[in-house]
Amino acid sequence: MTDIDPAPDTLTAPGCPAYPDAVPLAGLEYQQTPSELYRSLRRRHGPVAPVLLDGDIPAWLVLGYTEVTYVTSHDDLFARDSRRWNQWHAIPADWPLLPYVGHQPSVLFAEGEEHRRRAGVITQALAGIDQFELARDCRQLAGRLIAGFAGSGRAELMSGYAHALPMRAAVRFCGMPDGSPETQGLVEDLRISLDAAEGDDPVAAYTRVGERIHRLVREKRERPGPDVTSRMLTHPAGLSDEETVQDLISVIAAAQQPTANWIGNTLRLLLTDERFAVNVSGGRLSVGEALNEVLWLDTPTQNFIGRWAVHDTQLGGRQIRAGDCLVLGLAAANTDPQIWPEAHVGAENSAHLSFSNGEHRCPYPAPLLADVIARTAIETLLERLPDLVLEVEPGELTWRPSIWMRGLNDLPVLFTPVAP
Ligand code: HEM
Repeated sequence: MTDIDPAPDTLTAPGCPAYPDAVPLAGLEYQQTPSELYRSLRRRHGPVAPVLLDGDIPAWLVLGYTEVTYVTSHDDLFARDSRRWNQWHAIPADWPLLPYVGHQPSVLFAEGEEHRRRAGVITQALAGIDQFELARDCRQLAGRLIAGFAGSGRAELMSGYAHALPMRAAVRFCGMPDGSPETQGLVEDLRISLDAAEGDDPVAAYTRVGERIHRLVREKRERPGPDVTSRMLTHPAGLSDEETVQDLISVIAAAQQPTANWIGNTLRLLLTDERFAVNVSGGRLSVGEALNEVLWLDTPTQNFIGRWAVHDTQLGGRQIRAGDCLVLGLAAANTDPQIWPEAHVGAENSAHLSFSNGEHRCPYPAPLLADVIARTAIETLLERLPDLVLEVEPGELTWRPSIWMRGLNDLPVLFTPVAP
């Protein structure tokens, strides 16, 4: 039995006449109450919903835990190379999702043997990071950032801390010297290209990021060191400089945004939910529990674009055509009533899909590194500023207007000033 509305079952042209009820994948509800929205989408459309991306471009949103698992573990049917999309004719040159969907010759869009080669290099290079050293580096970076605002008794933690720390940690593990003007320039350009503010020029910043990473790769070819870049360059797979630059940018970008929002969403939970209030300062168990609960309930990458159907096939009772785009509804899958029939979503295990699944999932050991960065960031902050409280009512915190990442605009806090 299913409660899906009867509807024709192929996704057709832009504007989607076959689906007058296709849901625009944009709008305020995604910012405020995504869990309710996904529940109602699932009730109305079942585990695979017809949606409209920016500019009314049709796609499927995969909402079911079983269906997301199926899609991500069947690369032969649902693959990463976006060049097979059957909607390219309708995509304008300035389409806002182009930076995420336009094919790049990086690990992100590689398939089969080529993907195994590229992902294998990244996995080994990341596996060479010593987690204790990473924690020590993060404590030091956190200490410096906290010293910048500790004396004032108030801070905005999203830009000043949650976003700043993973970026600096990633740049450091890639082998950029700390504090040099070149490193600071890269950090600033990455911020602009990943998260432009008004007046920023993300395209120019992205070009400079490419140039700086090129310089880093040339330097590390000449003088390799104990860092991710050097390990990628000396790996027996023999990546070219160009391939290394592409994949380094993917690694840094993939590390920064989700880890930043993981930190921000967890701090929000710790500061707003009374279950964590009693032993929030230094309560190591509580921090671990909060980090895990966020992955189930407020996951940083709530929707991921995506996969493209290789052949005509079926999914969740829908007819999918070759070249259709599927958005992975990771947040929806994590809260799927099929896996949580009692309506309560627990956080006792790590079977969530927040790091995705299958060949293209967030590569081992990236989730462990992200955990070290996020945990150290939060524990250091709570140790240094133990009476941290929100400066506004919890209901006044606002989510960023994105259906892709779930993260706060600002996280303003107050605390007793301490000497930096
Ligand atoms: C040190 C931090 C991190 C690094 C270095 C990292 C690195 C990467 C890389 C290189 C990919 C591309 C994999 C591929 O296409 O084969 C990826 C994918 C991904 N990562 Fe991470 N990541 C980090 C943190 C996170 C966090 C905190 C989250 C979310 C909680 C996350 C969620 C994802 C997701 C959803 C994908 C997409 C997988 C797919 O295509 O199905 N990552 N990550």
